[in-house]
Amino acid sequence: MDRQIGRDIALELVRVTEAAALRAGRWMGRGQKESADQAAVDAMRMVLNTIPMDGVVVIGEGAKDKAPMLFEGEHLGCAEEPKTDIAVDPIDGTRLLSQGMANSIATVAVAERGSMFESPYVVYMDKIAVGAAAAHVIEFDAPVETNLANIAKALDKDVRDLAVVMLDRPRHEALADQVRNAGARIRFITDGDVAGAVMAATPGTGIDVLMGIGGAPEAVVAACALRCIGGQMLCRLWPRNEDEWAAVRAHDIDATRVLTAEDLVHGDDVFFAATGITDGELLKGVHYFGEGATTQSIVMRSRTGTIRKVDAIHRPAKLDLYGIPVD
Ligand code: FBP
Repeated sequence: MDRQIGRDIALELVRVTEAAALRAGRWMGRGQKESADQAAVDAMRMVLNTIPMDGVVVIGEGAKDKAPMLFEGEHLGCAEEPKTDIAVDPIDGTRLLSQGMANSIATVAVAERGSMFESPYVVYMDKIAVGAAAAHVIEFDAPVETNLANIAKALDKDVRDLAVVMLDRPRHEALADQVRNAGARIRFITDGDVAGAVMAATPGTGIDVLMGIGGAPEAVVAACALRCIGGQMLCRLWPRNEDEWAAVRAHDIDATRVLTAEDLVHGDDVFFAATGITDGELLKGVHYFGEGATTQSIVMRSRTGTIRKVDAIHRPAKLDLYGIPVD
């Protein structure tokens, strides 16, 4: 029988995202997305391989050959048990980081083997995410106005008080109009809808709901966080072109199905960790100083619902663990 994932993995996962952030943070504003990604991937792989588990990457960074990214199907960890699924987004907001903008984060999630939703053929999902208080009032196919009215009621607010976070994309023009017509406010983000979903689910962030079309892998990563926080995210695959529709048909995928956070990652043992790379609303970024650097992370576990914020001081000159240049 598979061994249950022990709670200690939570702190191990913080080490993973800290390592990725520490490495990637050196690329802030340097305009080199690939180098930043590679740095984060290398650090993540190194630390994930020190965790006592047999993990398989279900949501990865894709490239198997060109550059050794964290590809789907790759096994990581240094033990035979517990068997886990791993979802990584080593940098959510690669462009934010490379252009020196706020809110890029390093993220990882782990859950029981076979529990994460795989979407190898469709790049995007349409999403709506809220926190626990409004988790039961959203309906995927309800008009935007109805969802916003119900969310406002659940949060004991007026619709005009609501803030909807949305990726700033031309594909969202109609959605933005519907939100405006309903009377709510919009917080556009240029990238990073994992952080957007986590903020929507976290009381006190000033964001009440995430709406719109973003990455399907990011939906699974965010769902892991929401399973811990207790919010809800409803999604549907959004095939973006005829090739993706053809793949949907060829693989008999039900693209009409509305997926809940539980469909995206099921089971009782879901873990999520994130570390800020550039300063943001959710997390502070990496700050380097003479002998090292500081990081800020969050780590969560679904079984207990505990959410920890971890401020860390790293002294690579002493530990030399992640090979952070200290010049
Ligand atoms: P990466 O930095 O991981 O590439 O993703 C950034 C991101 O903004 C995600 O947060 C979001 O889900 C996705 O890209 C949206 O895709 P697109 O930029 O194609 O609209």
